[in-house]
Amino acid sequence: MVELLKMTTRAQRLRAIKEAGFNTFLLKSEDVYIDLLTDSGTSAMSDRQWAGLMMGDEAYAGSRNFYRLEKAVQQYYGYKYLIPTHQGRGAENIISKILIKPGDVVPGNMYFTTTRLHQELAGGTFADIIIDEAHDPMSEHPFKGNVDFEKLDRIVKQHGAAKIPYISIATNVNMAGGQPISMANLRQLREYTHQHGIRIIHDMTRVAENAYFIQQREEGYKKRRIRDIVKEICSYTDGATMSAKKDALVNIGGFLATNEWDVFEEARNMVVVYEGLHTYGGLAGRDMEAMAIGIEESLDDNHMGARVGQVEYLGHKMESYDIPIVRPIGGHGIFVDARRFLPHLTQDEFPAQTLSAEVYLESGIRTMERGIVSAGRKADGENYYPKLELVRFTIPRRVYTQAHMDVVAEATQAVLKRRNRIKGMKMVYEPKYLRFFQARFERL
Ligand code: F0G
Repeated sequence: MVELLKMTTRAQRLRAIKEAGFNTFLLKSEDVYIDLLTDSGTSAMSDRQWAGLMMGDEAYAGSRNFYRLEKAVQQYYGYKYLIPTHQGRGAENIISKILIKPGDVVPGNMYFTTTRLHQELAGGTFADIIIDEAHDPMSEHPFKGNVDFEKLDRIVKQHGAAKIPYISIATNVNMAGGQPISMANLRQLREYTHQHGIRIIHDMTRVAENAYFIQQREEGYKKRRIRDIVKEICSYTDGATMSAKKDALVNIGGFLATNEWDVFEEARNMVVVYEGLHTYGGLAGRDMEAMAIGIEESLDDNHMGARVGQVEYLGHKMESYDIPIVRPIGGHGIFVDARRFLPHLTQDEFPAQTLSAEVYLESGIRTMERGIVSAGRKADGENYYPKLELVRFTIPRRVYTQAHMDVVAEATQAVLKRRNRIKGMKMVYEPKYLRFFQARFERL
């Protein structure tokens, strides 16, 4: 189906962004023209998925749709046991509570906001083991999601494997700009973790996009289908958390999957406390049906080519306007480098937050800050100062046309032309957890 877009005047947008405390999360979607806040839950469902919604079996227990979803997860991802959850963070909560003990360390290939917070709330400390290139927006490394084994080995030697409940591996690393991990690196990690008796828990939110990059860039995978590559990725891990709102093309839903019976048994017990019965986990039967269909559609080679191709189209257009973006172009959006875009602002003046507000003001296009605000504070209250200070232009799947992408690039170029006159911001309200969602700002 198509959705009507609303165009606004500059005066209307100025009022809206002020009311929103210069935080794009606090805008009303009615005031947004092209919505690139996130690719989460914003994709368009297919005719098959809509038909699937009509086949919802809303029984409290043992819904037909649950068994269909379970079969899809086993068939396409290869994990043995499935616990549905209302979305990704529901699964993160459960796995963190089960596996992490106070004092544990969880190494991972870059943090993700909700994932790290659940690890910390369970008493763990996150340790970044991604290669240095991932923190450099200009590095052309084809697999910036790779693990740096020297960093990992240092942590294992320092704390001992017993203090490491699992290694947290994301495919197509969100905060690095949608950057993939290579199969070779993952295989090496599997060997390493087998030697040390450590699990790998896979954040598989964008696994199909990662598989696409492996197909395009890694030797030996050119002729392999995305579905086979995805299954091979999953085979090197012991369990997974999934936000099905991304790759799997649904508006809501997620799951926890594991190959270990003991973990499954405990998770099945906990899901009834936090989410819902173990055969629906906070979802309607129809949502599970749409998810099962979406999983299958996400693994289609042509779909992935079109999806990432559209992101690349926007990236190339921006580069032709000299807009500084994270290289290589990632899977789910274009990440504009706010440090280079607004070089006169210090990180404490929130360059990415400022740029995101300016893009909205210019055009009604909504983007998201992925810098110091998103990074939040450490347990001791100190701010994290991430190297990456980015604005994410996230592309929903199957929603916008290339013409919309042209408008986005042109609007960003218009902001670039007046960048010298843009002042930074100060934070005037800061919530305790995941502050980027609700923080408020004022212009300096
Ligand atoms: N892991 C990754 C890599 C994610 O990108 C997200 C969500 C989650 C876990 C949590 O899943 O939202 O279903 O609870 N990312 C969204 C985004 C919010 O905009 O990038 P969730």
